Amino acid sequence: MEQLHKYKQFKGQPRLPKFAVPKRYDIKLKPDLITCKFTGTVDISVDIVANTKFIVLNAAELAVDRNSVRFNTRNGSKVFEVLEVELFEEDEILVAEFPESLPIGLGVLSIALEGILNDKMKGFYKSTYEHKGEKKNMAVTQFEPADARRCFPCWDEPACKATFKITLEVPSELVALSNMPVIEEKVDGNLKTVYFQESPIMSTYLVAVAVGLFDYVENHTSDGVKVRVYCQVGKANQGKFALDVAVKTLDLYKECFCNISCDAFYNYLKSCRYFAVPYSLPKLDMIAIPDFAAGAMENYGLVTYRETALLYDDKHSAAVNKQWVAIVVAHELAHQWFGNLVTMDWWTHLWLNEGFATWVSYLATDNLFPEWKIWTQFLDESTAGLHLDGLAESHPIEVGINHASEIDEIFDAISYTKGAAVIRMLQSYLGPECFQRALASYIKKYACSNAKTEDLWAVLEEESGEPVNKLMNSWTKQKGYPVVSVKVKDQKLVFEQSQFLLSGSHGDGQWIVPITLCCGSYDARQNFLLQSKSETLDVKDFLGCSIFKGSIMETGKGGKNNENSECSWIKLNVDQTGFYRVKYDMDLTGRLRYAIESKCLSATDRFGILDDSFALSMACQQSLASLLTLMGAYREELDYTVLYNLISISSKVARIAADAVPELLADIKRIFIGLFQYSVEKLGWDPKQGESHLDAMLRGELLTALAEFGHDVTQNEAIRRFHAFLDDRNTPLLPPDLRKAAYGAVMKNVCRSNKSGFESLLRVYRETDLSQEKTRILSSLASCPDPDIILEVLNFLLSSEVRSQDAVFGLAVSWEGHETAWQWLKDNWDHISKTWGSGFLIARFISATVSPFSSYKKANEVEEFFASRTKPSIARTLKQSIEKVHINAKWVQSIQNEKLLPEVVKELAYRK
Ligand code: BES
Ligand code: ZN
Repeated sequence: MEQLHKYKQFKGQPRLPKFAVPKRYDIKLKPDLITCKFTGTVDISVDIVANTKFIVLNAAELAVDRNSVRFNTRNGSKVFEVLEVELFEEDEILVAEFPESLPIGLGVLSIALEGILNDKMKGFYKSTYEHKGEKKNMAVTQFEPADARRCFPCWDEPACKATFKITLEVPSELVALSNMPVIEEKVDGNLKTVYFQESPIMSTYLVAVAVGLFDYVENHTSDGVKVRVYCQVGKANQGKFALDVAVKTLDLYKECFCNISCDAFYNYLKSCRYFAVPYSLPKLDMIAIPDFAAGAMENYGLVTYRETALLYDDKHSAAVNKQWVAIVVAHELAHQWFGNLVTMDWWTHLWLNEGFATWVSYLATDNLFPEWKIWTQFLDESTAGLHLDGLAESHPIEVGINHASEIDEIFDAISYTKGAAVIRMLQSYLGPECFQRALASYIKKYACSNAKTEDLWAVLEEESGEPVNKLMNSWTKQKGYPVVSVKVKDQKLVFEQSQFLLSGSHGDGQWIVPITLCCGSYDARQNFLLQSKSETLDVKDFLGCSIFKGSIMETGKGGKNNENSECSWIKLNVDQTGFYRVKYDMDLTGRLRYAIESKCLSATDRFGILDDSFALSMACQQSLASLLTLMGAYREELDYTVLYNLISISSKVARIAADAVPELLADIKRIFIGLFQYSVEKLGWDPKQGESHLDAMLRGELLTALAEFGHDVTQNEAIRRFHAFLDDRNTPLLPPDLRKAAYGAVMKNVCRSNKSGFESLLRVYRETDLSQEKTRILSSLASCPDPDIILEVLNFLLSSEVRSQDAVFGLAVSWEGHETAWQWLKDNWDHISKTWGSGFLIARFISATVSPFSSYKKANEVEEFFASRTKPSIARTLKQSIEKVHINAKWVQSIQNEKLLPEVVKELAYRK
């Protein structure tokens, strides 16, 4: 009691007290891979800056040897033995109390500790692999956001930067890696001590070690940074693609961030003597870890990855896997600057790390692989941000964090994709050159230090002379985004903004919206800032306004009959660089539909019109009939990203229709099958020699969709090819890009009386040692319509055959399997919560199982079930998932009230 009282001042605080500042950590760790325990010592040089008898730092799940804790003044003149040491698990802090005040100035705090190599994929943990048929453990770290404290006591906050000198004692046959290069190894019998060079100043969440048996491939950047890709023994060849991307990306980041204009950044690097080499560490290692919760982690100099995000197999990886490897590598390497060199000041500014790394990774990927049209594909990302941010339960980009347990949940589409999208929006508003110059000076100004969002705005404001802070605050400090309605009235264009919510209600947010518009041609452009609720633009001022004459303005109705109609369209948010939606009036919508059919619009704009229309329909601001009519304009679509979205919208519509208007479902599916005929006939089943990356990806997506919608011909052909694959895993009939489609078709045809397809897939799963193949199979299994099989699949996910990192892939359950999945989640919640409850993957169990429901009754049931089971790490996801169920329920009702829908569906399904 007395203890609690004495230390009360330190408990329940979101941040550590700052009377001691860490400068340097000397860490020695000895992991035991057999007993899965570790021991260690840490000597932390600290600067005592205020009179105190206490040192308070973070620690969790560690046993601290009380007798080891002491404080030495720098010159060694005095040793302070500790009076009391207490670890408060709930606050994750260690309080060391000394008998008298510690002298202001430098000293060293020493602590000896013991811990467990856990199986939760965080802190210092064990991962397993097979070597020569034998099961082995490796020891690795994952410290972001706040788990370094589970390995050694530390000031575990991003702003508490220090240098790290790491020493590992490990079995002598193993490879030991850390952030910095090895300076010395001393072998002593079966053990060796590995000494690593001291790191530059960095945050605790970026410290890393990995100990195990690994192979590697190696290369150098043009200025001599040694780059290696480590992986399981025997898989080194699979590291070559990532290695190549890494070397090129580092060279690119060194030189510039994009090929438009990079002088500013380049000059900065040349002039900045402190970083004589652009990448500031002497080496970069990247390593594939078989058990890994996230996709990858940007630890300074030792980037860790899931196998699927780093390894690429020539024979069995698909184009989409290749693209993912490139994006992830580019993302993590971007962090070496955005995040590692300049670090967010606190988790509230996480988006400065993640939004920027995401945005930069697209710049880099676009540079290396222009044929991938990755900026168009970015729209698929940003639509995920728009969807999440269309919920009332969303959060602002800059979000308050009061406890470590709240951090995990903000690694979401808001921080990543909304973050990246608002950066893109700002860049497009300020212009790439100005933006780049500002970034260069931002990095220079905050290198080796920390920054807040407003620090970035200040630099951009100075460089551009624009009111960046005011403009951007409306995007980062409030949640949500606007829908801008546009209509033609009295020779004028009237713009109105209101907050877009998928629930259909109107929020009261207001934004400063950089509006761009084109009228009739991409040469007739206009930009302005929409600063108030509504604004009117005089068409007379509009460039090339003559195209209005005789069309929109004069006929009022517009449409196909008008002479000028083919160019009389208006598209807002040109190229979709803005993070907002647009709602056109009926007339303008008709014109856009015609412009799409006449192939007047760019792929990005076609994407935007479709995506906005879908969102408006879901929010019951537009009928499903008009969405379906618009979708009909995409029959000759060939762009990968647009079709990808068309497919994903089709399958969402089919799902909601199954709940709302089951009697129309068959015809709705028929419409969708019809929509994809044109493109699928162009692509065929067999890859063409030298065909593009995008065509290879598109073929797989289209065939998967056709099989999903029950297209017999596609299903039969897919199954035929699957049988050929079972006979020969290298058959040209089923290259990796087609496998997802085939697996989906196979599972569609599995039922309790004929499980052979399922069994064959499990056999392929068990045989392959390629992680991408395993996840491909897992993501197809639950597409089976038979609830009995679904249950078998779900139980399989909990078995020891599926790594806990991968179980979430199997949760993509068919419409028919939903009730089963929910029952299964309830039945297994204790186990699921125990296994995944301490990480962020648990949230996926909830969102995948709950959000597809579409009735208020179900929403209540979910709420009731979780009433006694919620906790901080799932609270946000749970609320968001329940909100989605409400949105679906409302959508169902609105669809059921659409009088014209049956007629429109018939007409679209049977039109020639
Ligand atoms: N810093 C993150 C890793 C991370 C995520 C740590 C969540 C802690 C919690 C890393 O840079 C990252 O963003 N990884 C992404 C991949 C990226 C390409 C979007 C991931 O893990 O999905
Ligand atoms: Zn990241």
